[in-house]
Amino acid sequence: MLSAQSLQKIDVELAKYPADQRRSAVMAALRIAQVEKGYLAPETIEFVADYIGIAPAAAYEVATFYNMYDLHPVGKYKLTVCTNLPCALRGGVSAAEYLKQKLGIGFGETTSDGLYTLMEGECMGACGDAPVMLVNNHKMCSFMTEEAIEAKLAELN
Ligand code: FES
Repeated sequence: MLSAQSLQKIDVELAKYPADQRRSAVMAALRIAQVEKGYLAPETIEFVADYIGIAPAAAYEVATFYNMYDLHPVGKYKLTVCTNLPCALRGGVSAAEYLKQKLGIGFGETTSDGLYTLMEGECMGACGDAPVMLVNNHKMCSFMTEEAIEAKLAELN
Protein backbone atom coordinates (compact mmCIF):
# COMPACT_ATOMS: atom_id res chain seq x y z
CA MET A 1 0.00 0.00 0.00
CA LEU A 2 1.21 3.47 -0.80
CA SER A 3 0.30 6.81 0.75
CA ALA A 4 -2.45 8.95 -0.73
CA GLN A 5 0.24 11.42 -1.76
CA SER A 6 2.15 8.78 -3.76
CA LEU A 7 -1.06 7.50 -5.34
CA GLN A 8 -1.89 11.04 -6.37
CA LYS A 9 1.52 11.34 -8.04
CA ILE A 10 1.00 8.03 -9.83
CA ASP A 11 -2.42 9.26 -10.99
CA VAL A 12 -0.71 12.29 -12.52
CA GLU A 13 1.61 9.95 -14.44
CA LEU A 14 -1.27 7.73 -15.53
CA ALA A 15 -3.15 10.76 -16.85
CA LYS A 16 -0.35 11.33 -19.37
CA TYR A 17 -1.29 8.20 -21.31
CA PRO A 18 -4.43 6.88 -23.04
CA ALA A 19 -6.55 4.59 -20.87
CA ASP A 20 -5.39 1.51 -22.79
CA GLN A 21 -1.72 2.44 -22.33
CA ARG A 22 -1.54 2.60 -18.56
CA ARG A 23 1.44 0.30 -18.55
CA SER A 24 3.51 3.22 -19.92
CA ALA A 25 3.42 4.78 -16.45
CA VAL A 26 5.07 1.80 -14.78
CA MET A 27 8.57 3.31 -14.61
CA ALA A 28 7.35 6.52 -13.03
CA ALA A 29 5.05 4.62 -10.68
CA LEU A 30 7.87 2.38 -9.48
CA ARG A 31 10.09 5.42 -8.94
CA ILE A 32 7.37 7.12 -6.87
CA ALA A 33 6.87 3.92 -4.85
CA GLN A 34 10.61 3.62 -4.24
CA VAL A 35 10.86 7.21 -3.03
CA GLU A 36 8.17 6.49 -0.44
CA LYS A 37 9.29 3.04 0.64
CA GLY A 38 13.05 3.40 0.26
CA TYR A 39 13.23 0.29 -1.94
CA LEU A 40 10.96 -1.97 -3.97
CA ALA A 41 9.89 -4.99 -1.96
CA PRO A 42 7.98 -7.68 -3.90
CA GLU A 43 4.70 -6.59 -2.33
CA THR A 44 5.34 -2.98 -3.39
CA ILE A 45 6.03 -4.02 -6.99
CA GLU A 46 2.88 -6.12 -6.98
CA PHE A 47 0.86 -3.29 -5.51
CA VAL A 48 2.07 -0.93 -8.24
CA ALA A 49 1.28 -3.50 -10.93
CA ASP A 50 -2.18 -3.98 -9.50
CA TYR A 51 -2.80 -0.25 -9.22
CA ILE A 52 -1.79 0.34 -12.83
CA GLY A 53 -3.63 -2.73 -13.99
CA ILE A 54 -0.77 -4.75 -15.46
CA ALA A 55 0.53 -8.22 -14.70
CA PRO A 56 2.97 -8.34 -11.76
CA ALA A 57 5.53 -9.97 -14.07
CA ALA A 58 5.49 -6.88 -16.30
CA ALA A 59 6.31 -4.64 -13.35
CA TYR A 60 9.01 -7.08 -12.16
CA GLU A 61 10.59 -6.98 -15.62
CA VAL A 62 11.01 -3.23 -15.35
CA ALA A 63 12.05 -3.19 -11.69
CA THR A 64 14.76 -5.80 -12.23
CA PHE A 65 16.09 -4.36 -15.50
CA TYR A 66 17.00 -0.79 -14.51
CA ASN A 67 19.62 -0.23 -11.85
CA MET A 68 17.96 2.84 -10.40
CA TYR A 69 15.43 0.54 -8.82
CA ASP A 70 16.52 -0.96 -5.52
CA LEU A 71 15.10 -4.37 -4.75
CA HIS A 72 16.68 -4.43 -1.30
CA PRO A 73 17.00 -1.78 1.41
CA VAL A 74 19.79 0.72 0.77
CA GLY A 75 21.46 3.37 2.88
CA LYS A 76 20.13 6.88 3.25
CA TYR A 77 22.56 7.86 0.49
CA LYS A 78 23.08 5.52 -2.43
CA LEU A 79 26.32 6.47 -4.15
CA THR A 80 26.73 5.07 -7.65
CA VAL A 81 30.16 5.54 -9.18
CA CYS A 82 30.62 5.11 -12.92
CA THR A 83 33.54 2.82 -13.73
CA ASN A 84 32.94 2.42 -17.47
CA LEU A 85 35.91 3.03 -19.71
CA PRO A 86 35.77 6.81 -20.31
CA CYS A 87 35.35 7.40 -16.57
CA ALA A 88 37.88 4.70 -15.70
CA LEU A 89 40.46 6.45 -17.86
CA ARG A 90 39.87 9.64 -15.93
CA GLY A 91 39.85 8.42 -12.34
CA GLY A 92 36.53 6.59 -12.02
CA VAL A 93 38.05 3.42 -10.62
CA SER A 94 40.27 5.40 -8.25
CA ALA A 95 37.26 7.37 -7.04
CA ALA A 96 35.42 4.12 -6.36
CA GLU A 97 38.43 2.68 -4.54
CA TYR A 98 38.73 5.84 -2.46
CA LEU A 99 35.08 5.57 -1.45
CA LYS A 100 35.48 1.89 -0.60
CA GLN A 101 38.40 2.69 1.69
CA LYS A 102 36.75 5.74 3.17
CA LEU A 103 33.41 4.02 3.90
CA GLY A 104 34.84 0.58 4.63
CA ILE A 105 32.44 -1.16 2.26
CA GLY A 106 32.51 -2.73 -1.19
CA PHE A 107 30.12 -2.39 -4.10
CA GLY A 108 26.62 -3.49 -3.19
CA GLU A 109 27.24 -2.97 0.52
CA THR A 110 25.86 -0.53 3.07
CA THR A 111 27.70 1.08 5.98
CA SER A 112 26.74 -0.28 9.40
CA ASP A 113 25.18 3.06 10.35
CA GLY A 114 22.83 2.74 7.37
CA LEU A 115 24.06 6.00 5.90
CA TYR A 116 25.74 4.93 2.66
CA THR A 117 25.33 2.24 0.03
CA LEU A 118 28.01 2.04 -2.64
CA MET A 119 27.15 0.85 -6.15
CA GLU A 120 29.10 0.43 -9.34
CA GLY A 121 27.38 2.22 -12.20
CA GLU A 122 27.34 2.10 -15.96
CA CYS A 123 27.84 5.10 -18.25
CA MET A 124 25.59 7.95 -17.18
CA GLY A 125 26.13 9.95 -20.34
CA ALA A 126 28.31 12.47 -18.54
CA CYS A 127 31.72 11.11 -19.56
CA GLY A 128 33.08 14.62 -20.11
CA ASP A 129 32.64 15.28 -16.39
CA ALA A 130 34.46 12.11 -15.32
CA PRO A 131 34.73 10.77 -12.80
CA VAL A 132 31.04 11.01 -12.02
CA MET A 133 28.91 9.81 -9.14
CA LEU A 134 25.15 9.70 -8.74
CA VAL A 135 23.56 10.34 -5.34
CA ASN A 136 20.22 8.63 -4.77
CA ASN A 137 19.68 8.06 -8.50
CA HIS A 138 19.01 11.73 -9.16
CA LYS A 139 21.83 14.06 -8.18
CA MET A 140 24.78 13.91 -10.57
CA CYS A 141 28.14 14.89 -9.11
CA SER A 142 30.92 15.75 -11.57
CA PHE A 143 34.72 15.66 -11.41
CA MET A 144 34.83 13.51 -8.29
CA THR A 145 38.42 13.84 -7.22
CA GLU A 146 39.31 12.76 -3.69
CA GLU A 147 38.82 16.36 -2.56
CA ALA A 148 35.41 16.54 -4.26
CA ILE A 149 34.39 13.24 -2.68
CA GLU A 150 35.40 14.53 0.76
CA ALA A 151 33.42 17.72 0.20
CA LYS A 152 30.36 15.76 -0.95
CA LEU A 153 30.46 13.39 2.01
CA ALA A 154 30.79 16.33 4.41
CA GLU A 155 27.77 17.94 2.74
CA LEU A 156 25.70 14.75 3.04
CA ASN A 157 26.64 14.00 6.64
S1 FES B 1 31.66 6.44 -18.85
FE1 FES B 1 31.15 7.36 -16.99
S2 FES B 1 29.58 8.74 -17.53
FE2 FES B 1 30.11 7.79 -19.39
